[in-house]
Amino acid sequence: MSDTTKSVSLHKGGDQSEYPVMDGTLGPSVIDIRKLYGNTGNFTYDPGFVSTASCESKITYIDGDEGVLLHRGYGIEDLAENCDFLEVAYLLNHGELPTPDQKTKFESDITYHTMIHEQMANFYRGFRRDAHPMAIACGVTGAMSAFYHDSTDINDAHQRMIATHRIIAKMPTIAAMAYKYSVGQPFIYPRNDLNYAENFLYMTFAVPCEDYKINPIVAKALNKIFILHADHEQNASTSTVRLAGSSGANPFACIAAGVASLWGPSHGGANEAVLNMLSEIGSVDRIPEYVKKAKDKDDPFRLMGFGHRVYKNFDPRAKVLRAAAHEVLNDLGIQDEALKMAMELERIALEDEYFVERKLYPNVDFYSGIILRAMGFPVSMFTVLFALARTTGWIAQWNEMIVDPTQKIGRPRQLYTGYGPREFIALDKR
Ligand code: CMC
Repeated sequence: MSDTTKSVSLHKGGDQSEYPVMDGTLGPSVIDIRKLYGNTGNFTYDPGFVSTASCESKITYIDGDEGVLLHRGYGIEDLAENCDFLEVAYLLNHGELPTPDQKTKFESDITYHTMIHEQMANFYRGFRRDAHPMAIACGVTGAMSAFYHDSTDINDAHQRMIATHRIIAKMPTIAAMAYKYSVGQPFIYPRNDLNYAENFLYMTFAVPCEDYKINPIVAKALNKIFILHADHEQNASTSTVRLAGSSGANPFACIAAGVASLWGPSHGGANEAVLNMLSEIGSVDRIPEYVKKAKDKDDPFRLMGFGHRVYKNFDPRAKVLRAAAHEVLNDLGIQDEALKMAMELERIALEDEYFVERKLYPNVDFYSGIILRAMGFPVSMFTVLFALARTTGWIAQWNEMIVDPTQKIGRPRQLYTGYGPREFIALDKR
């Protein structure tokens, strides 16, 4: 391939074909290879989409080498420090930070929908008590399409807006109910006088027989965690939401697909895996043994919470959360062995040649689990909290895709390496 400023030529045999280069506002330009197959009869091969842009987007920008994360141009550090979660949800979904009036209106649009259909409670009761809350969240999110038919027409802009409000409003209720069901406590209805993070704490931890006092330190930290997880451009779950949506599936079904994809330990399930790993390690003196295991190519063990496909410098979200983890644990007066182990693991890994060479830094999940546990959330709820925060990004990305005139049903190609045509062998001859 030879590169000119605005196009790239590909030579194959005696033939030459041209491919336009498209510039974004930030980040690498892309080579538009949509005509490649027609011109050459070849597909491209890129498992894991390492070099492939699957869409155009104006929502989130990441510079992995510089450790930069921007939502609609605003730095994640500024948003995490200064915003309420619903301001960030507005920003992601509307493109601008809200004015005070827009913020008030958006809050009332969201709080109008915080309750879920009463019959959905019966749906919960069908699950085993020991079901993983992520399994419940996945099922109940998908079930929303069975309860809210009047907002499933993706070609109607008003219905898309109502579905957006419903999904952002109801995810905390769905998540808190998954927790309540698993501990055998009664479901707690939302309180619309509380902000997004406070209301979630209330629905999760309040019980009908006592007054529940919201700890402002905990609420502030949870607000920060929600903001840090709100969107992250075309990661596995977001791409899943877009791919599911590309067929015209309704938004509730698409978000349920995103929840399912997020669950994996290489993605949203990593914060749960970090805590499980720390409890397996058990004490600071056993850390070198586990660092050795992580480096051993014959051992499948990996240091959970380290490494990222995109961030090859520090994960900026991890920077914010590292500070928040210390703040919350100090304020709550918690001496956490897991935090001590995490700090030591971080110190060793950041000095160790293996991790330095491969640019493996602590990611957001490394610290979020420690804070969430200090707040009283069970480990099994960590990924559910990630899902509820990421829902706002998923739905913004889904909306962007629906109105994108270049959008097509997602249909990757493959490199087939199986058998060629074979003679069929009858059952009695095999
Ligand atoms: N511990 C030990 N070695 C690692 C780790 C780790 N956590 N992560 C990557 N490596 C090694 C890997 O073995 C490979 O070594 P080599 O070049 O010698 O073969 C090299 O680093 C590159 O790894 P990779 O698997 O090609 O990198 P990737 O971009 O495909 O994977 C990752 C990224 C996040 C899946 C991976 O780093 C990982 O499994 N980390 C642990 C799980 C985790 O914390 N996931 C949360 C990601 S952040 C939250 C989110 O955005 O969802």
